[in-house]
Amino acid sequence: MSVIALLGAQWGDEGKGHIADQLAAQAFIVARYNGGDNAGHTITVGDMVVRTHLIPAGAFHSRVTCALGAGMVINLRSLAREVDELNSHGADLNPDRLKIDVAAHLLLPGHVALDGAGESQLGASAIGTTQRGIGPAYTDKVARVGLRAGSIADVETFAEAFRAHVERTNVRLTRDYARPPVDVGALEAEYANLAARFAPHLADVTALVHAAIERGETVLAEGAQGALLDLDHGTYPFVTSSSTTTGGVLTSLGVGPQHVARVIGVAKAFCSRVGAGPFPTELHDAMSERLRGTGANPWDEFGSTTRRPRRTGWLDLVALKHAARINGLTEIVVTKLDILTDIDPLRVCTAYTYRGKQTADFPGDTAWLGECVPSYTELPGWHEDIGAARRLSDLPRAARAYIEQIQSFTSVPVSHVSVGPERSQIFEV
Ligand code: GDP
Ligand code: IMO
Ligand code: MG
Repeated sequence: MSVIALLGAQWGDEGKGHIADQLAAQAFIVARYNGGDNAGHTITVGDMVVRTHLIPAGAFHSRVTCALGAGMVINLRSLAREVDELNSHGADLNPDRLKIDVAAHLLLPGHVALDGAGESQLGASAIGTTQRGIGPAYTDKVARVGLRAGSIADVETFAEAFRAHVERTNVRLTRDYARPPVDVGALEAEYANLAARFAPHLADVTALVHAAIERGETVLAEGAQGALLDLDHGTYPFVTSSSTTTGGVLTSLGVGPQHVARVIGVAKAFCSRVGAGPFPTELHDAMSERLRGTGANPWDEFGSTTRRPRRTGWLDLVALKHAARINGLTEIVVTKLDILTDIDPLRVCTAYTYRGKQTADFPGDTAWLGECVPSYTELPGWHEDIGAARRLSDLPRAARAYIEQIQSFTSVPVSHVSVGPERSQIFEV
């Protein structure tokens, strides 16, 4: 077998964790390839609802090796907290099961402080980041001044590099943002402990991935965020700072495209977005609240990482088709179809109007997208509870027609449908 890429096909929070948890059962390695603890992926196993931020979904499959790829930025503090939490749920993430690529970058306290300061300075034009330090950590990586995970292998050189990093960050915090400096003395002991704790997890993830491929095993590459938050192809500057798309799988894990057998795009049956930026099908009425939910259910549309209410709107097929193209999706998994029960009629966006001209193409420029007015196709809704459906034929005719509309518009087959957050509520089409 080979690599299966699983990624978000919208603006994040499509239900990647839920789907990855199920696919992990067939994998030898599950590797996160991008982002950091800005991600919040929910896994539901019976009564247990767990949110992962850095660790891929294989955590609850004891046979699976969980890997953090070179394309990630890793906050060791968050990682320690998450490992402890998942272990308390029985994950047993020991150094044999959890591998950190030596080339991944460390996300350090100065990055978090810079993210907050940068967002405050932007004021009304803020991106609405998760304030986890993602942008500043990738900035250091690209500027070639970042600390790589491999640096924790030697406690003394790490301490020195850590100190130098904090001092460099402090110059920017105090000079550019008039913020107080990060107190390096207060952090040194904590970071020496974190380095000692995670050094045994260091590995060459690329080599592990290739060894697994050569043995004929499956490697599941789990994406964070979504196609429309991709640094290159998303709605820049309202994006994250990593490659969320298939390209990110290749560069992070160090594999060639011939090894990628399937590219699975996870898409919610409607759309959501957290943070600022254009969102053509966004609703601001009672339907928006209906799609969001009140927050009473764990699956309601409130950020898994920040608990911010998510913006919600109708399914945007123009944007989904764009996501299918830039990723080379071989299949789409539709999640949260159950949420649409009792909404009749349903609407899906099948074209945009830009300055009086209709188009079915996603515009290349974010400002153009901001001016696009969606045109909708109306579809009949259904009223039956579909949470117990286990095959396509269990769905009402209107729900099947909704799935069919997604396939025919995007020209990508829908391979699975999810009708609830539980493992048993995903079925193959
Ligand atoms: P991710 O970041 O892509 O992993 O998605 P999140 O975990 O942030 O948000 C998706 C939410 O929807 C989670 O609470 C999931 O448990 C939930 N979810 C996923 N699929 C379904 C589904 O088919 N139906 C319902 N009701 N909830 C779902
Ligand atoms: P998962 O993996 C939804 C959004 C933020 C902001 C933008 C930049 O759970 O789908 P960042 O902190 O990355 O610099 O923020 O990206 N964002 C997400 N939105 N789901 C996520 O992750 C996100 N991670 C970042 O809200 O708009
Ligand atoms: Mg999420």
